[in-house]
Amino acid sequence: MQEVPPQFAIRVHDLVVGFGKHVVIDHLALDVRKGEILGLVGASGGGKSVLMRTIIGLIPRWAGTIEVMGATIGDTHSRSTQSAAGRWGILFQQGALFSSLTVRQNIQFPLRENLVLSQALMDEIATAKLEMVGLAPEDGDKFPSELSGGMTKRVALARALALDPAIVFLDEPTSGLDPIAAGDFDALIKTLQKTLGLTVFMVTHDLASLNTVCDRVAALADGKIVAIGPMRELLQSEHPWVRAYFHGKRSLMLQPKAS
Ligand SMILES: Nc1ncnc2c1ncn2[C@@H]1O[C@H](COP(=O)(O)OP(=O)(O)OP(=O)(O)O)[C@@H](O)[C@H]1O
Ligand SMILES: [Mg+2]
Repeated sequence: MQEVPPQFAIRVHDLVVGFGKHVVIDHLALDVRKGEILGLVGASGGGKSVLMRTIIGLIPRWAGTIEVMGATIGDTHSRSTQSAAGRWGILFQQGALFSSLTVRQNIQFPLRENLVLSQALMDEIATAKLEMVGLAPEDGDKFPSELSGGMTKRVALARALALDPAIVFLDEPTSGLDPIAAGDFDALIKTLQKTLGLTVFMVTHDLASLNTVCDRVAALADGKIVAIGPMRELLQSEHPWVRAYFHGKRSLMLQPKAS
């Protein structure tokens, strides 16, 4: 009998995560659809990065279940987590690249960790990934200290794509970029979603990204997903934190002033 592919790329149920006495994620539920770009918003320190790192098995959970592409995620070292690990790529919020390795070596790092490939093939893959994120083959010889912020994000994305993952996790990919570079990065994400059928889980504070690239937006408050849906629905949400986030003083600055 043929297996029915799951409709969801990620399913999180009744998740509880904390540190010491501090509960960060409190009975959270979240389903991410296959092939969608899901944006995650939430207060600074609210647990967005913790949620992302828990889904990929880097932080142990206190309770709840997590499924990624139909496979149940155990704790960090379980076999199910290890085998699922090849199916996602990650762009971390901090410390995106290894400073002592060239761009090419950075992109090849996950290949070296997970596969046994000839150097020639790894070089070919690195060049293809560089092209995919809009960089030139020569950029492969540079060191991270020689890159601009926007290029660094692109290289980190190329590395996240190294193993041809089904899902990429991006933690604030456009933070620190100027609006034009951020817009270019957004367009790149959208293109990759369309051409590769990628599922994208993106933590972002960038209202333009939320508006233009995300199919749905989820809001994390008090350790739970308090609203989820297309941006236009989030803008209608009655939840006090969601209202304050999208209709507060800073977001009003984006709208033209009435004369
Ligand atoms: N390894 C850890 N040990 C102890 N506490 C942690 C650890 N990682 C995160 N925390 C705590 O968990 C809470 C959520 O942190 P998290 O990094 O997920 O916030 P965030 O929503 O990603 O914030 P930001 O938007 O600023 O990146 C914070 O109170 C943080 O101090
Ligand atoms: Mg964070």
